[in-house]
Amino acid sequence: MQTSEIIAQYEKTVIGNYNRLPIVITRGQGCYMYDLEGREYLDMFPGWAVSGLGHCHPKVVDAIRQQAGELIHIDNTFYNIPQGKLAQMLSERSFGGKCFFCNSGAEANEAAIKLARLVGGEQKRYKIITMEKSFHGRTFASMTATGQSKTHAGFQPLVPGFTYVPFNDFNAVEQAIDDETIAVMLEPIQGEGGINIADEQYIRSLRQLCDERNILLIFDEVQTGLGRTGKWFGYQHYDITPDIITLAKALGGGVSIGAIIAKPDVAEYLKPGTHASTFGGNPLACAAGIAVIEAIEQDNLLQNAENMGQYCNDKLLELKEKTHLIKNIRHRGLMIGIELTVACDKIVSIALEKGLRINCTQHNIIRMLPAMIVTAEQIDKAIEILSDTFEQYERTVQQEQEQAQ
Ligand SMILES: Cc1ncc(COP(=O)(O)O)c(C=O)c1O
Repeated sequence: MQTSEIIAQYEKTVIGNYNRLPIVITRGQGCYMYDLEGREYLDMFPGWAVSGLGHCHPKVVDAIRQQAGELIHIDNTFYNIPQGKLAQMLSERSFGGKCFFCNSGAEANEAAIKLARLVGGEQKRYKIITMEKSFHGRTFASMTATGQSKTHAGFQPLVPGFTYVPFNDFNAVEQAIDDETIAVMLEPIQGEGGINIADEQYIRSLRQLCDERNILLIFDEVQTGLGRTGKWFGYQHYDITPDIITLAKALGGGVSIGAIIAKPDVAEYLKPGTHASTFGGNPLACAAGIAVIEAIEQDNLLQNAENMGQYCNDKLLELKEKTHLIKNIRHRGLMIGIELTVACDKIVSIALEKGLRINCTQHNIIRMLPAMIVTAEQIDKAIEILSDTFEQYERTVQQEQEQAQ
């Protein structure tokens, strides 16, 4: 089938809730993906952070193949070996918490929100404070938790009990708390919000405040989790421990999985009959998760994420010297945001034509979430294409201005 035929098939049979590019991707390997016509793209935004080890990491592929031959799915009526092993690996690498498994980031947040409600139940505390510009998913509660009105549009009335405050503003949280507040929920680095990094003092003060007021601190680590920031989890940059963290995206190396890790005394509230997921914790997804963690350790990828993030930042600073299009660069490990002085949608399209995949968020912020296996050569190549892209953008704008005169 040709690209045009596949697009026509989608138009007839797939609901049009995504803005798709007219490209059919058929294969991925490491930091590259390939389309139906055989074109190669350097993927600096692999699977919206799902393919954290790049496309088709050999260790993940082997683990999936082997597990698929033994047991793909077994329901949670029974125990299975990969689920227990993955839970132990996550618990040991975090704060000794207990895991619940599901299939996506929104579901993980949904579970965390439900758990918070159960914790607050006896005292009739149910309110959750979240941040402006946050993104927590598209299910009803996770969408409501998301502090962006564009995500809510058309879905009112929303789930009651959510209050939004500006990110990195401790006083705003303090003022928003009342006797019915049970949790504060935030991303340690806002991804969709434009790579906004939580200040150290802010997080420490939040932890202290939550302890004083007996409020849960929930970190949405769906994007920051599993090593991308140079540590296993984003909270580990802050010398504090949240009560619940939520995970998804990179955890399955491309296979759909979500999880929460909760402190044992909090986890107690999720008793049989309160919450469940049919697919959650299935052997196939958990085997992939185990392989992801093992690959990160065996190949020293936490260190690589930190080194390559710094390298990319340095190269971007050099590029910033040469163009007025870059206003600011923010990064922690391989979560990289390039704030532009102009809207970035056209720039992302030009880059794609030149074989580089990046993302545009919040109108003027280029987001790059390269795989943790990325090399300095691949970053050099990405920056070179970005530099050419900026030049072409400037030429196009100039031509348009001349034509308009
Ligand atoms: C921080 C964060 N939380 C939650 C989600 C929702 O995850 P999913 O799309 O897997 O439901 C996302 C997705 O982009 C995210 O970035």
